[in-house]
Amino acid sequence: MAEMMWAGRFSKKVDDTVNAFNSSIAFDGRMYRHDIQGSIAHATMLGDCGIIPKEDSLEIIEGLKGILADIDSGSLELDPSAEDIHMFIEAELTKRLGDVGKRLHTARSRNDQVAVDIRLYLRDEIDEIYALVEELAVTVLNMAKEHTETVMPGYTHLQRAQPVTFAHHLMAYVWMFIRDLERLQDTAKRMNYCPLGSGALAGTTYKTNRQQTSDLLGFTAPMPNSLDGVSDRDFCVELNCALSLIMTHLSRFSEEVIMWCSWEFKFVELDDAFATGSSIMPQKKNPDVTELIRGKTGRVNGDLVTLLSMLKGLPLAYNKDMQEDKEAIFDAVDNVKLCVKTFIPMLATMRVLKKNMRDAAAKGFINATDCADYLVKKGMPFRDAYKITGTLVAQCIEQGVTLETLPMESYKAMTDLFGEDVYEAISLDTCVRERKSEGGPSPDAVKIQIQQAEKALGL
Ligand code: ARG
Repeated sequence: MAEMMWAGRFSKKVDDTVNAFNSSIAFDGRMYRHDIQGSIAHATMLGDCGIIPKEDSLEIIEGLKGILADIDSGSLELDPSAEDIHMFIEAELTKRLGDVGKRLHTARSRNDQVAVDIRLYLRDEIDEIYALVEELAVTVLNMAKEHTETVMPGYTHLQRAQPVTFAHHLMAYVWMFIRDLERLQDTAKRMNYCPLGSGALAGTTYKTNRQQTSDLLGFTAPMPNSLDGVSDRDFCVELNCALSLIMTHLSRFSEEVIMWCSWEFKFVELDDAFATGSSIMPQKKNPDVTELIRGKTGRVNGDLVTLLSMLKGLPLAYNKDMQEDKEAIFDAVDNVKLCVKTFIPMLATMRVLKKNMRDAAAKGFINATDCADYLVKKGMPFRDAYKITGTLVAQCIEQGVTLETLPMESYKAMTDLFGEDVYEAISLDTCVRERKSEGGPSPDAVKIQIQQAEKALGL
């Protein structure tokens, strides 16, 4: 291994176990592009401000570009024994340029360097995740458009409650994903401030131009406080929160898909390409994708707890604990991308078994509220109507019939307000069609929210 940069201060070599323990290149190596991007901006500023000779600055920039091209092409491999990506690239630059390379780290510390790198890296990741969640929202929205007339049971406590349409159910997720998109945007906006120039913690005595590096890197503005600049990881927490919510939505959706493809429900059939078989039970077709998404949600939530716990006791400014931020947030980012990418085609190829949904909605006294509402519309107070309907349901259960097939005498025996038109009022189609309050499941009401969602998604 090459001599440590700080060898001058030490009389002994650092123990190998400590070197291995300290090293973060195995997981921060993925930020090499962003590290070089930050260094190019820094070198440009150093040259423009006359802090280093302009020729040196230009040579450094060319050197950095060469390193970038070589890592990209695979001709330069990251040295796993380097302490981190920052040290590796600086050492490589010095190897290539000699003394000129040694000027790059003027007026900079790894503390502001790593803070800028993570922001640049995550900014790109947010763009990717945003595009994926947008695609997911559009996929679900397009499915909803095809199912405005598909009646299914709506549940509370996982008990059949009132009828809805599949489009209505799907649109609930579209709105969750739209909020996820807003949260990603919001996180990106707050994250987009530049810590470069904060130095180790207390700025620098050189006459730097922080506005210039901030502008060159596309940030909104330099961070106003150097201590905050190097010790803030709120953006990692915030992003992880947004990611945890994306996973929570995906996980709830997954749980429903898992139930829907069970024999007990049979509302959907997964495409063979998105299901798996069993090694022993020949009849099995398992929803592994959705189960794994549900499982990985715990993992992404774990990343959030890692970040919050890592930060909670840290005095200002930089502490080595902060190196733990990357594995957590990278893991969250990687897994969310993986899950959304797999979920989209699984959903798009899933067959919807409309008849089974409708049959399920026709059972379970899903129209009991509508029966009570029928009496209310004839002038009875709701509580009385509720009680009468409850009694009728109990009679139906006892006689093994439904409200639709209960004879008129039984209705009349409860109150004269009941007439033949009750059968029409409690028919499944009426129950769905008439639920046209704003945000409700009727085909007409759902078409309105589909338009609202299209507008929100800029379609
Ligand atoms: N690898 C370090 C990290 O990820 C870089 C910053 C090191 N700074 C320091 N003062 N040791 O946090």
